Amino acid sequence: MRKPIIFGNWKMNKTVKEANELISLLKTLVSDIKDVEIGVCPPAIDLQEVVKLTKDSNIKVGAQNMHWEKSGAYTGDISAVMLKELGVEYIIIGHSERREYYNETDQEVNKKVKTAFEHKLKPIICVGESLEERKENKTKDKVKNQIKNALKGLTANQVSQTVIAYEPIWAIGTGESASAKQANQVVSYIRDVVNLDYPEASQKLRIQYGGSVKPHNIEEFMAESDIDGALVGGASLEANSFADIVKNTK
Ligand code: 13P
Repeated sequence: MRKPIIFGNWKMNKTVKEANELISLLKTLVSDIKDVEIGVCPPAIDLQEVVKLTKDSNIKVGAQNMHWEKSGAYTGDISAVMLKELGVEYIIIGHSERREYYNETDQEVNKKVKTAFEHKLKPIICVGESLEERKENKTKDKVKNQIKNALKGLTANQVSQTVIAYEPIWAIGTGESASAKQANQVVSYIRDVVNLDYPEASQKLRIQYGGSVKPHNIEEFMAESDIDGALVGGASLEANSFADIVKNTK
């Protein structure tokens, strides 16, 4: 059985003060939920505060990005060592916004995934097609390449601990989510792709859907065979709506 996993990706939102307010409320709203793994990924500058606030709670903390090197002359970047020392547990890698605005490549994603495991951070690897790619019937090729490259060189044990977020780019922040069936088609295809190289791990690895997930549509996604959770953007910026998504997760 794969435990459902709902994470919020705050992107570039929330000051330390705002993060404090959101987490203080969220903690009370979800405190009795045990059958869903819950997490938030705040901006790097909020991490210390959020780790401190979530300490004895059921809310995990992830970062949104990191460099693949341990340290060095990389102005503006942060490392896995720094995240680990803070008490961060998860790391989002290869979000489509990073691939698009910062030209992150599949090779860099793979380096970051390996670094994450070296430092005992659990990766949430994002994949997904653009609207153009979907129209041209290239969805499967695109995600297959992204998955194969991202997992290159990993052990089966590492793959089983990996989380993949399938986020069709056209559904992110648009209010227009993929239909649950559409999403599940790609998500089960992703599991098939992983199955080719890692048969056992492919049944353990969890795959989230991301893209305009809201309290009213999470149930439909979770009802599908291969969707194990969600990576939530906009609706995770408000404690009540994020808590409602978690509560509606079955
Ligand atoms: P929205 O939920 O705002 O569409 O964002 C999804 C996302 O990009 C999560 O990483």
